[in-house]
Amino acid sequence: MDFVEQLKSSIDIVKVIGEYVRLERKGATGRYSGLCPFHQEKTPSFSVNQQRQFYKCFGCGVSGDMLKFVMEHDGLTFPETLRFLSDRYGIPMPQRAEFSDAESRMRAALYEMHEIAADSFRDNLRGPIGAEARAYLERRGISQELIDVFGLGFADPSGQALMRRFTERRFSNEQLEASGLVRRRNEGNGHFDAFRGRLMFPIHNETGKVIGFGGRSMREEDQPKYLNSPETPIYKKTTVLYNLHRARDGMRKNQRAVLVEGYMDVIGVYAAGVKEVVASCGTALTNQQVRTLHRHADSVIINFDPDKAGENAAERAIQLLLDEGMHVKVLSLGSAADGAKLDPDEFVKRFGADAYRAKLDSASGYFHWLADRARTKFDMRSAEGKVDALKFLLPAVKNIPDKLERAAVANDLASYLGVDPSMVLDQFKRAATDRKTTSPAPPPRPELPTMERVLLHSLFSSARVRQQILPQLTPELVQGFVSHEILDAFRHVESDDPARIFTEVEGRLSESSRTLLHEALAADHTEEEQEEEFSWTQAVACLERLQADFRKRSVADLKAQVKVAEREGRFGEALALMAEVKQLEELDRAERDQRRRAS
Ligand code: CTP
Ligand code: MN
Repeated sequence: MDFVEQLKSSIDIVKVIGEYVRLERKGATGRYSGLCPFHQEKTPSFSVNQQRQFYKCFGCGVSGDMLKFVMEHDGLTFPETLRFLSDRYGIPMPQRAEFSDAESRMRAALYEMHEIAADSFRDNLRGPIGAEARAYLERRGISQELIDVFGLGFADPSGQALMRRFTERRFSNEQLEASGLVRRRNEGNGHFDAFRGRLMFPIHNETGKVIGFGGRSMREEDQPKYLNSPETPIYKKTTVLYNLHRARDGMRKNQRAVLVEGYMDVIGVYAAGVKEVVASCGTALTNQQVRTLHRHADSVIINFDPDKAGENAAERAIQLLLDEGMHVKVLSLGSAADGAKLDPDEFVKRFGADAYRAKLDSASGYFHWLADRARTKFDMRSAEGKVDALKFLLPAVKNIPDKLERAAVANDLASYLGVDPSMVLDQFKRAATDRKTTSPAPPPRPELPTMERVLLHSLFSSARVRQQILPQLTPELVQGFVSHEILDAFRHVESDDPARIFTEVEGRLSESSRTLLHEALAADHTEEEQEEEFSWTQAVACLERLQADFRKRSVADLKAQVKVAEREGRFGEALALMAEVKQLEELDRAERDQRRRAS
């Protein structure tokens, strides 16, 4: 068994995918379903088949085994995926060098450089050059425990420290420059550290590897306030959420995520005992980040800074989250008694963890927040202002999936705005027709003829079919089969264990055939294992059909040849061919009679 097979047979796909998607068991058949992580959806059409160890989305059509899932989901190469699974599930990988290509070598180097950097920053913070940073953190109320949890550090001001370590490790210039951790000198040779004299926040991917940094200046005159890692092969800003790897368990447990704006806010909220907190490090929230959130929770509480930028960002975030079908609440912390506007971090510090948690628990629905915002944005005394406010609020309302809830909100909205309910309903209708005309067509899927589907099922369910029918499915018989590659794969099967058979077959397939196979097996009715006897009968029927079709094709073929021979004056040949036709027709008749008698 090669390593790939070994991995696949020792790890359960449900466990692997379950780390990314909330899966719900469907019946006793080893089938699970959840929201597809590869496209946006509100009701689950993503299914995982435990027995056959593959996944399939009926919405967007993606399918594959656990390796493909991890590759596509985490954007890893094949060798990286093997390494990841081998580390994650403790299955030792043989001769690591065997599984490496240029791309994964580059990434491995980048991960290593980031690990080295994170260690070095951490050491600096503890050491003599970290005094100022330690004092800064203390001033901001960040305990040693939090420093350790978040792996905070300090970048050596000299600009040489990291570079020295990287040189020792002999990273190539290409690797150095791709990392974003060092920069090339404008003049002369060599590189210098990109982060200097800053407080460092490591940014992790979902699996907990350091992939970038945010560096905060500690003095007003050092601008910008935050310096962030650039995009690199391991850091894609639009997909990363700060603190996700620590937050995801809490998100699942508490069925909610708290979304804040900054690194400091995450740390402050986390310190208040709310671990399900993440931030979209310095970029506007993206669709991909929203989908990531949805994989772990259904509800999000937005708690952004109470300034203009924060409010605009919250407005955008609400819409994105609603589009994804999530429940959304907004917590605005307002102002303290002295008029200071409070971000989450400052609120926790001033009023304590309990007060903050109470605020979170009593956060109100996004709709109130938006309505309040509409009131300050538009002149509610004028008719025009009311229409504008309505238009402003409409997108958020029309996405409420539940009809009754939508109607109730529409009513609220009307009374809130002091407009006639019919005006709101009128707008709803218009929005609804817009929605109809803009909904995209579903992607086309490869079609598998029923006959082929039935044969495949029988092959999987019955050893007798594999032994006796398969050899009779000769190439001319299955000519033009969409699934011919799958049938060929079956001819090589050695095992008798259903789960192994699947792996063996699947392992030989091209991408498109694999999709076809998943398509064929994922259909609902296939979940109950077909009975051996039933499979046998079906397969026999298929074989007979195919043989009959083949005879018909051969007869037509021969007849055409007879015609040509006659026209060209090869009468002897024509006669011989005609005899053959006759023989075939008789055989066909006999077969059909026999079948009629049998049934
Ligand atoms: N940010 C950034 N670049 C800046 C300013 C901000 O990337 N020049 C990002 C950072 O991810 C930051 C977030 O936006 O964490 C929110 O900004 P801000 O509220 O200014 O920072 P805080 O994290 O709250 O930091 P502090 O409390 O120290 O001001
Ligand atoms: Mn702040």
